[in-house]
Amino acid sequence: MRENLITKTAQWAMEVVSHYVAEGDTVVDGTMGNGHDTAALARLVGPEGRVLAFDVQEQALRNTTELLKEEEVRLGLKTGALQSRVRLICDSNANLRSYIDGLKPSAVVFNLGYLPGGDKNVTTTADETLRAVTEALDAVKPGGLVAAVMYSGHEQGAAEKEALLAWARELPPKEYHAAYVAMWNQKKNPPELLLVTKK
Ligand SMILES: C[S@@+](CC[C@H](N)C(=O)[O-])C[C@H]1O[C@@H](n2cnc3c(N)ncnc32)[C@H](O)[C@@H]1O
Repeated sequence: MRENLITKTAQWAMEVVSHYVAEGDTVVDGTMGNGHDTAALARLVGPEGRVLAFDVQEQALRNTTELLKEEEVRLGLKTGALQSRVRLICDSNANLRSYIDGLKPSAVVFNLGYLPGGDKNVTTTADETLRAVTEALDAVKPGGLVAAVMYSGHEQGAAEKEALLAWARELPPKEYHAAYVAMWNQKKNPPELLLVTKK
């Protein structure tokens, strides 16, 4: 059996993202963290594609570099094959417009919250994330996707989720489609998914 996606929200998000991304595309990882999404995006865009990956912590850039190297070995690729597709940016995702340089990404992904295994006080916030998703939606090409995995099990995350859902609900329905995937019977605030595409 392939991955049980209902139990693995981040993989579910990436599976959806994969339907929007073709080889050679530019894509954005708004929250690089330990690099799992960045590495998955680097594989999706292929040798001619480009991934811009953001995080506010240098630790995330180091962890992601390590993961990309490990993935190159695991996949039998040449050293640097994945790393050369990725630009690691130590800055807030709220500033993504200044790095995109007129490019039209086919997807922008966010896996919100704090760095797993890192400092739980350095977390995404409602204000910054709202700025980021607004910029992301503005930047993506028509038919492109903005995806966010949301974690409401901590205080900042709960406020961030509410802010994002309120933002998405008000998007003009003729210009955007917004979908919200919630885990219906699970306790303890499981991760949820917000998906927005524009015409
Ligand atoms: C849940 S982790 C991301 C996991 C990651 N996608 C992965 O595959 O390992 C969330 C990350 O967002 C980062 N972060 C917090 N605020 C941010 C901001 N304003 N801009 C970019 N990254 C931010 C944190 O430092 C943390 O590393």
